[in-house]
Amino acid sequence: MIKACVIGWPISHSRSPLIHNYWLRKYQIDGSYTRQPVEPNALAEFIRTLRSSGYAGCNCTIPHKEAVYGLIPAADDYTRKVGAINTVFAIGDAFLGTNTDGEGFLANIASAVDVSELRNKRIVILGAGGASVAIAGFLQDQGFANLAVVNRTVERVTAMRARLGGRIEAIDWNDRSFALSECGLLVNTTSLGMQGQPPLDISLDRLPDDAVVTDIVYTPLRTQLLKDAAARGNRVVEGLGMLVRQAVRGFTLWFGKTPEVTAELFDLVALDIDPNYRR
Ligand code: ATR
Repeated sequence: MIKACVIGWPISHSRSPLIHNYWLRKYQIDGSYTRQPVEPNALAEFIRTLRSSGYAGCNCTIPHKEAVYGLIPAADDYTRKVGAINTVFAIGDAFLGTNTDGEGFLANIASAVDVSELRNKRIVILGAGGASVAIAGFLQDQGFANLAVVNRTVERVTAMRARLGGRIEAIDWNDRSFALSECGLLVNTTSLGMQGQPPLDISLDRLPDDAVVTDIVYTPLRTQLLKDAAARGNRVVEGLGMLVRQAVRGFTLWFGKTPEVTAELFDLVALDIDPNYRR
């Protein structure tokens, strides 16, 4: 039996077990994927004993992604660039860490729109936390060079720029609504608009009609930002697809099968988030 898990603190809300156990059932793989609450001060010990605990690897979520980067060698340049690990896997006797957030993000967009049309367009990212770094870093690697980051704390954009290199325009949070003219893709990576968090207060008046809007928040499944964008005719991409698609490579690495992202899987996770969900 192959064992994997997701570690975080807290971890009780993680939907990753729902996703991986769906695939384990679907492909009749003798494996398990569980939630493991790991306090920050217990993280190093948990990682050190990963193998003796019988794990083939794990996912890492808030607040552990950056700390795990300091504990395990990175498997690739992208992971080194963003300095955060969300997927730990074994190669022979060693564990390595990688980051699948960027590919999950872009695969989600690509499932809905032709991303080549966005390559030369201005991409406006709200927020400069870990998710923003992972997304911006991946977009840069894929040749999306026209990035603008809007954040309440400007120093965080400066730090992000120092980490990622390249050209990233820093925009003051107060100018967020003005920043949307000429925008081809608008991405919310802040926690604003999430259930239990303050709303995201932004005017879409300047947003071009052909812009794509996405939110990494998936509780609710369709955030107010996405509702407002859809109401004015913009194409929208919900955040749940990023969660599901970032899970694909971890499953492949641990369980040896590249899993399919199906409508049935979406429905399963969406219903867990919103019992009133209808496709
Ligand atoms: P993650 O690692 O998941 O991206 P994070 O590091 O906590 O999460 O980042 C959250 C993002 O939401 C940040 O960009 C944060 O802005 P600050 O860097 O200024 O803190 C943004 N955010 C959270 N609450 C906000 C608020 N009330 N107004 C504006 N931005 C907010």
